[in-house]
Amino acid sequence: MKSLAVAAIATLLTTAPSFTRALCPFKREAGTGKGDIDLASVNPSKLRQILEKRDLRDVPVNHEDEPGLNKRQFTAFNENQEIDVSGVHAWTPPGPNDIRGPCPGLNALANHGYLPRSGVVGLVQGATAVQQVYGLAFSFALPLSLYATLVDGDPIAQTWSIGKAPPPLLGLPIIGNGDGLSGSHNKYEGDASPTRGDYYLNSGDVSTLRVPLFKALYDLAKDDPVPNYDLRVLAKHRKYTLENSISTNPYFFWPPFAGPAVSNAAHTFIPALMSNHSAEYPNGILDKETLKDFFAITENPDGSLSYRPGYERIPYNWYRRPLGPQNEYTTLSFAQDLVVLAQTAPGVVAVGGNTGTVNSFAGVNLADITGGAYNTQDLLNPRKFVCYFYQISLAVVPDILRSKLLGTVLATALNLLQNQLQPFIDPNCAKIANYNDDFAAQFPGAALP
Ligand code: HEM
Repeated sequence: MKSLAVAAIATLLTTAPSFTRALCPFKREAGTGKGDIDLASVNPSKLRQILEKRDLRDVPVNHEDEPGLNKRQFTAFNENQEIDVSGVHAWTPPGPNDIRGPCPGLNALANHGYLPRSGVVGLVQGATAVQQVYGLAFSFALPLSLYATLVDGDPIAQTWSIGKAPPPLLGLPIIGNGDGLSGSHNKYEGDASPTRGDYYLNSGDVSTLRVPLFKALYDLAKDDPVPNYDLRVLAKHRKYTLENSISTNPYFFWPPFAGPAVSNAAHTFIPALMSNHSAEYPNGILDKETLKDFFAITENPDGSLSYRPGYERIPYNWYRRPLGPQNEYTTLSFAQDLVVLAQTAPGVVAVGGNTGTVNSFAGVNLADITGGAYNTQDLLNPRKFVCYFYQISLAVVPDILRSKLLGTVLATALNLLQNQLQPFIDPNCAKIANYNDDFAAQFPGAALP
């Protein structure tokens, strides 16, 4: 694997002038991090054995829909959970200048006027909308919106685009408005998404839904007696999307934040935030019609599926999960769901990528990247994952900011990062003092053309 990787990079360096990063020797050594084990090589059967041996009873599991684990019970159903889709919140498709992008949750919010219909969103506005409409905890929502503001938005105006770059703002010629979520490949948006295609396989178009990917998900439960796209179903789809990218995309790349954190969240958000918590199913059910509405899919009489970009909608009679600390979807809820994904798809916590050919996945040791603060196995410990989620942002974002901003603008952006994340950070979490991104140089997919 190692020699293959080096050969692939050597070829790339001679053939692709845009790939200018210095070649760093691959430093993976199993067990370099304290308590680390060699999960980075992504040997699924080995990882499954390790997971089976782990005593999951010490994990405060609180899943909505995983049979056999504590089924999450929400506080009593309340009519206020119904999301208004009438009047000012009536569904309207995007106009010619309105922006939509890779996130169906955000596209639907904009189509219903819960976010500006233009698709350009404010930092706090974005976080508040996803909390109020979907029940995503603010401590999770704000970092997501903050990340968008900093890595692909405008840190001075504190806005970001849910899709392509918005038109430049007068007076801010140096920083512009950012590239938007659609232009954030490897920084925010990543490969192996639930329904969007990989960057290198689709000429950089990461926003358009690919019907075969949606169909792969849809088919998993469509013929069930009571179809419900719950976490078990999404775990199967997660396995498929990861293996599909590794086996079809020579440039597949999974960096430390966009991979294990964002791509997996994109999968768990589907049952966690799109399920309908009606009076009949207070713990939530995600049926076929609801799934199709959220993904802008219609089913034709012959059973084929059609997609209309930007037509995502919140269904009629849709009830979000209840609000309040017991009910909202927190980073810890996500970390617990990640353990369930890993039981079906062990590779979900591996940082790494293909090395220029399909099926050449090489994992890197997270301990090497994080200066020993976190190892790959830590991502399967929900409490440690929560630490990792915030700490990796603090480690990665300054690098990105320094690569594009200068002077007081850079200082303002760095302050924004620290000040906004501070309230959510547990001081007992290990800090990533020495983040090292040299590992990326061995993966051709890390560099954008
Ligand atoms: C401020 C909040 C949010 C931000 C910044 C955000 C950002 C993103 C980004 C960057 C992606 C692309 C990830 C990838 O490459 O796979 C994405 C995908 C996705 N997001 Fe969001 N998101 C937010 C909230 C939500 C909410 C509330 C939901 C659910 C209601 C949601 C559901 C999804 C899903 C299902 C995908 C995967 C799309 C696909 O491939 O089919 N997101 N989001």
